[in-house]
Amino acid sequence: MCGIVAYIGHQEAYPIILKGLKRLEYRGYDSSGIALYGKQIESYKKKGRVSELETWDAPILHEAHAGIGHTRWATHGEPTDANAHPHQSNSGKITLVHNGIIENYASLKAELIQKGYTFQSETDTEVLVNFIEDIQINNNSSLEEAMRIALKRVVGAYVIIVLEDGFPDRLIAARKGSPLVIGVGEGEHFLASDASPIIEYTKRVIYVNDYELAIISKDDIILKNLGNEPVTPYIQQLDMELAQIEKGGFDHFMLKEIFDQPASLTDCLRGRLDVATLSLTLAGVDQHLSVFTQAKRIIIVACGTSWHAGLIAEYMIETICRIPVEVEYASEFRYRNPIIHSGDVIIAISQSGETADTLVAIERAKEQGAFIFGVVNAVGSSIARLSHAGAYTHAGPEIGVASTKAFTAQLAVLAMMALKIGKAKQTLTDADYKHYLVELSQIPEKVQVILSSHELIKEVAQVYAEANNFLFLGRGYNFPVALEAALKLKEVSYIPCSGYPSGEVKHGPIALVDETLPTLFIATKDKYYDKIVSNIQEIKARKGKVIAIINPDDTAIRGVSDHVMEVPETDELLAPLLTVIPTQLMSYYIGVLRGLDVDKPRNLAKSVTVE
Ligand code: AGP
Repeated sequence: MCGIVAYIGHQEAYPIILKGLKRLEYRGYDSSGIALYGKQIESYKKKGRVSELETWDAPILHEAHAGIGHTRWATHGEPTDANAHPHQSNSGKITLVHNGIIENYASLKAELIQKGYTFQSETDTEVLVNFIEDIQINNNSSLEEAMRIALKRVVGAYVIIVLEDGFPDRLIAARKGSPLVIGVGEGEHFLASDASPIIEYTKRVIYVNDYELAIISKDDIILKNLGNEPVTPYIQQLDMELAQIEKGGFDHFMLKEIFDQPASLTDCLRGRLDVATLSLTLAGVDQHLSVFTQAKRIIIVACGTSWHAGLIAEYMIETICRIPVEVEYASEFRYRNPIIHSGDVIIAISQSGETADTLVAIERAKEQGAFIFGVVNAVGSSIARLSHAGAYTHAGPEIGVASTKAFTAQLAVLAMMALKIGKAKQTLTDADYKHYLVELSQIPEKVQVILSSHELIKEVAQVYAEANNFLFLGRGYNFPVALEAALKLKEVSYIPCSGYPSGEVKHGPIALVDETLPTLFIATKDKYYDKIVSNIQEIKARKGKVIAIINPDDTAIRGVSDHVMEVPETDELLAPLLTVIPTQLMSYYIGVLRGLDVDKPRNLAKSVTVE
């Protein structure tokens, strides 16, 4: 899950590639490098952030009009200068950057070593570039032909962009499993893992598909498949603004994206929820309504935060639509050889739309005849294109590695899906349907109310910033919020912590409780309220510190808690869209107070494009 960028055209390539890598740094940031084609190919790579590349000072920086760049998330080989990309073939004639994993690299490497090839790094990528060179030499073929042959023999995922000595006016790129976007300019072209490095230069883009090769010069783009057949490029218009991928005056993207939520939720509901006519339009569901109303089972497949959204959707769909729902970790689902019946509906939830585990899981389910519905944020992404139908979450670009606004937008879409299907199945009364629509329409402004209390939440964070552990508890719809809160705090503060259904605590986790352990309860008014009150007393009885997320009119829990954070009342089905906000802010502040880079936490990356 690296970030790759390339440029060919009339401008200086170096500043464009450097800026592009900084935009993609959330995809991986343990080492980076650039190769430029001036009079010859020269490359520069270093362990560490992209800013390290600014120490490169060479004439080629200003004379090269073509180049490739890479920011890395290590898979094969530790973050070192040698393992950083680009990698060159033994002859030095071929230079490439790669995002993905070559699973059969060890056997290929053994073959090449037999033939006398030597290796400077531990990477699968250096094996790939030499494998391509070996085929080119043995077949006396063009680079394009050698790449086609080589890529038919590699197993795994890749996007590669290649420079070849003697061909200063050409880049060749290929894709399978990892994302690649081409930006179409006037006399210049841009290539990148996603549109964020491209948006300021052009809004005309081509999303390259699996098993496609692109031969790119400054005036031309030729697309072919691995069978050497031409493919007609499909140029799309980006609906994203540059401002959306800037920090907008906030210290971090994570904080900006938390504060984006009133707007991102409004965008997510726009054109779908019409509270005046109390109607709901969700094209992807409308066009396949019978698939849902006749579904015997719904299987939700996702990872991380998206999996937590899936757990909440299970409560929503089972309650409203009376359809059994199973929520699966994609990485387990794909290897478990799951039983898929015809009539099963798979809902794949993903912010990036590129998470390899989820992608491969739905490929498997699709092969077995399941109907795939994607709930995705990134427009044009692989999961969106693989699904039979879907709904975009319209949360806008999410740059911070810790997912925040995409999560609440996922919940809004999943709630709308449940309401649509429940209405069609008449498992939901008209009165309840209208009630939920009105409640949902008020969520964005209620989120704004919570955000206005951010200073108070910051004070709570200051009290617990040095905690060595944390417990998050909730019941019903708020149980998965407890899991999500624990994940967020882990991601940005590195505090080992866990989330549980409150009722589960006395079956073990309560052993952790003492005067040093803070326990955060999500305790809004619902049918579980009285149970939560007694759970809080169990913690207090063991001198545990209690933080509670409550409704403004709460007195019982306010009276027994050490700290409270308020959220406006709403229906329990929609409560997670509100109760998660204080946990996002608290995690953010604790991460910042601990001096950590909350936008790029260690060892993480925004889009996990390898298994
Ligand atoms: C969440 O903050 C993490 N970035 C991570 O768990 C993420 O949710 C997971 O990798 C799934 O990503 P996706 O939604 O893009 O598929």
